[in-house]
Amino acid sequence: MIQTLSSAASLSGSVRLPGDKSISHRYAMLAAIAEGTSVIEHFAASRDCHSTLGCLSALGVDLHESGDTVTIRGRGLRGLQTPGCILDAENSGTTIRLLSGILAGHSFESSITGDESLSNRPMGRIIRPLRQMGAAIESRDRELPPLHIRGGSLKGIRYTLPVASAQVKSCVLFAGLYGDRPTAVEETIPTRDHSEIALRVFGGRVRFDGNWIEVDPEPRLQGRHLTVPGDLSGAAFFLIAAALVPNAELFLPGVGLNRRRRELVDYLMSAGLNISVENETETGGEPRGDLRVRYSPGLLQRQLPPIRGELVASLIDEIPVLAVLGSQAAGGLTISDANELRIKESDRISAIVTNLRAMGAEVEEKPDGLVIPSARQLRGADIATRSDHRIAMAFAVAALAAQGETRIRDAECADVSFPGFWQALRNVASS
Ligand code: S3P
Repeated sequence: MIQTLSSAASLSGSVRLPGDKSISHRYAMLAAIAEGTSVIEHFAASRDCHSTLGCLSALGVDLHESGDTVTIRGRGLRGLQTPGCILDAENSGTTIRLLSGILAGHSFESSITGDESLSNRPMGRIIRPLRQMGAAIESRDRELPPLHIRGGSLKGIRYTLPVASAQVKSCVLFAGLYGDRPTAVEETIPTRDHSEIALRVFGGRVRFDGNWIEVDPEPRLQGRHLTVPGDLSGAAFFLIAAALVPNAELFLPGVGLNRRRRELVDYLMSAGLNISVENETETGGEPRGDLRVRYSPGLLQRQLPPIRGELVASLIDEIPVLAVLGSQAAGGLTISDANELRIKESDRISAIVTNLRAMGAEVEEKPDGLVIPSARQLRGADIATRSDHRIAMAFAVAALAAQGETRIRDAECADVSFPGFWQALRNVASS
């Protein structure tokens, strides 16, 4: 499907975000290995989270969806059943990496695979610690899906993460539930802590000591009634659209503001964007609030703060749309230390550079990032999304600031994280 967009003369109204993707995956997986029934409201409508539900169903989990509420009957810590098929994580790195930690704790043999994009993403980062814990894992070409996993009783380990990755951290912590002693993970660069928070909410024991996170094995996880906050990474497209369209004002209610992810809001505020956070509350240990964003003319007169070092891990999913904003800031934007972006759903550095250039921006590609020296007027172009949801949505935002029409190819890939994105954008933007 091709979506055709042109520049927006105004942007106003309210946007209801889908449930947070990262939190929804974790709630579904923990509910599946808990005892009793969980009810999860505002569960992410995203295709990725449905990949998780599909895998859990294939593992014998009884689940029921009604609107955006998912009811999951837990099977207990070791209660998943031998799947009768190869598990399909489709496009979802979080599904394959987190679920592998749980599968490693089960004595049956299982295989998990994904679509073409996922099949080319590195799994060595989870295979190595899971093997150290005693799971038998085979893969294609040393570290690519499909993964064949046979686990059982695992050894608790102390593991220092070699890459800043919440997926790897979570995989090891979930496998640690099946260890013979506590498992501890050290992260030298902080990443989103939804797994730690969710484990505690379901009744797991998690301790923090400096950079170390330690989980106790054999918890009795209990089903819970939870509500997922709105997805801040989905909100990012609208926050940045409001930074680009003169006089824009948007209201985004009930957005998740996890401390490791709200750095996006802090970053945009420090760049000069007028965002107010209202009605802050917390449910299930996850903070949330209503965001109101207003166009702030000063922002585009300056250079955006550089994105490098630890900030990269906090903004990892928002970098494509932040690069679009950088292309419109008079002093440009520099992104470095972002090698991880090359192994996301697509090589996002290359996808950003190619598409920004197609729209007339000046941008230099670096091995670990990019440099945009100054702003140039964007013009409409044909956007090759590489079927990557965040590239499609980032360039939809670019289209709002471009002269002429922009055509976004394979636009349906937005459903991977944000079904309804195109309608939500049309509801608030007028040309
Ligand atoms: C996620 C972690 C990040 C992020 C992804 C979701 C998670 O991946 O990019 O979209 O839910 O844990 P990495 O852990 O590979 O950085």
